[in-house]
Amino acid sequence: ERPAVVPVKVGIIGAGAAGLYAAMILDTLRDEGFEYEILEADPERVGGRMYTHHFEKGAAGPNDYYDIGAMRFPKIPFMDKTFELFGRVGITPIPYVMSIPQNIRYYNEKGLTVQAVKDSESFDPFGTGVDGLTAKADTMADDQLGVFKAALIEDFPSGWKKLMEYDSYSTRDYMMHMGTDGVRYPDKVVDFLETFETASNLYDQAVTESVMDSLDFDYGPDVDWFCIQGGAQQVAERMAEGLKGSLLLGKRVKAIAFDKPSVPGTLPNTMSVTVANEEQPRTYDHVITTVPFGCLRMIDTTGCYLPWNLQTAMRTLHYDCATKVAIQFSRRWWEEEDVQQYGGVSSTDRPTRTVVYPSYGIRGQGGAGASMIVSYTWAQDAARFGALIQPGTEAERRLIDQILADLAVMHNKSQEDLENMMVDYHAFDWYNHENSAGAYAMFGPGQFANLFPEVSSPHGRLLHFAGEATSVHHAWIVGALNSAYRSVHQILHHYKREDLVARIRQEFGAVDEIDDPAFEHLQLKLAKLSFQSTPFM
Ligand code: PHE
Repeated sequence: ERPAVVPVKVGIIGAGAAGLYAAMILDTLRDEGFEYEILEADPERVGGRMYTHHFEKGAAGPNDYYDIGAMRFPKIPFMDKTFELFGRVGITPIPYVMSIPQNIRYYNEKGLTVQAVKDSESFDPFGTGVDGLTAKADTMADDQLGVFKAALIEDFPSGWKKLMEYDSYSTRDYMMHMGTDGVRYPDKVVDFLETFETASNLYDQAVTESVMDSLDFDYGPDVDWFCIQGGAQQVAERMAEGLKGSLLLGKRVKAIAFDKPSVPGTLPNTMSVTVANEEQPRTYDHVITTVPFGCLRMIDTTGCYLPWNLQTAMRTLHYDCATKVAIQFSRRWWEEEDVQQYGGVSSTDRPTRTVVYPSYGIRGQGGAGASMIVSYTWAQDAARFGALIQPGTEAERRLIDQILADLAVMHNKSQEDLENMMVDYHAFDWYNHENSAGAYAMFGPGQFANLFPEVSSPHGRLLHFAGEATSVHHAWIVGALNSAYRSVHQILHHYKREDLVARIRQEFGAVDEIDDPAFEHLQLKLAKLSFQSTPFM
């Protein structure tokens, strides 16, 4: 069967990784009458959470930048689509150094190298005195989460099914009250593991998220990581440059609605999207919204007649906080003889939490520049730093002073010396950005099992939800890509164009999170063609 309406026009809201990728896929279906238009709220920039800041003060060099958003990519099978995308847009990633033995762990006011922690015979190398430690932190965490990780690697759909049986537990609950092989940890031990493995209070989110996190960060022993020389935003820019359809900037969507069907008693076949400062709504056959849910909630969707469970999902699905602070220095002091941090990450229980040494410009490669991410925080650590991220204020200066103090003790430098080398700084809080309202999805207990199906299925046949939050791979570009692929797949399925489903699979590869039986709820929803509870029926 041919498409019901030729051409089919898709309205894509958002020009981040998901929106741009949906457009790239649709470009390959142009000859079959599939067209699109992207509406991006930002007046100047594409890329969303692929966002690079360039320092410009002093003698800024090509390496005086940092990725405020996506910055590192593990080469693991789940991420194939990301690497395939880099190739497609002609970008060759460079190695990203995830960890080196000299990286620092500074906890409980005691500093050790990663190597020293590894070599230590003690399960408590920082002298916390916590009772109940029966192995090192990494091992104790893996003893709880490792079985799920192994199951997902072995066979993703069945591994996911197994994981969903425990989704109503937070990581904390799981370790304290369920436990793998019946082994349960006391609460102080859980606090200890959380401190060393992740961010403050992150173990209150779904155990599913901790499993996915360890899958991505510790897939196996020899994973190569990559980053983009010059910043990840270039990937988005290249994606945008290559598009055949139209991409409109400065188009903030105010309302999305189904159009009234021309024949009463039938289902609507088009949707209207109203853009701020435009008089006429724009009409599309399908809409793919990639808008983060915090922002989507500010768009009037009453004319979409969203069912209660879907509204609940949009309102409650949990997004994590994240902040990044970068400093442009006059020298790469962290690579000098007395410090020797050639990439990798140091971490601490001090407010700064994690320090990310750049993998670009190491020992002067790729030109000059001495900028680094002096703090990258998540969860409550980020919420608290967020209170101080107010450009140009004394509050933000206090934040920088705190970070300089933490850097000084961690690296055995004087705070004054670090301060004297500082040329400029930049701080960013993802929860405080109007078009993001969160860093990335990090679901709470039970939300994957109960609410995720709502947002990974189309609503009323024509409205499709994309963006990293609507994939199981939260907080990674690949999640956004998979969700975009799924949305296009849903549109093709609507027109029963299984031939084109096969074509995009051929061209862009399969997506395990939509093709497999564990995700059959999607297929069920796809088949459900009626709007219950809308005025149209
Ligand atoms: N991908 C992001 C990072 O590399 C964010 C992330 C946070 C991913 C937590 C998974 C878990 O930091």
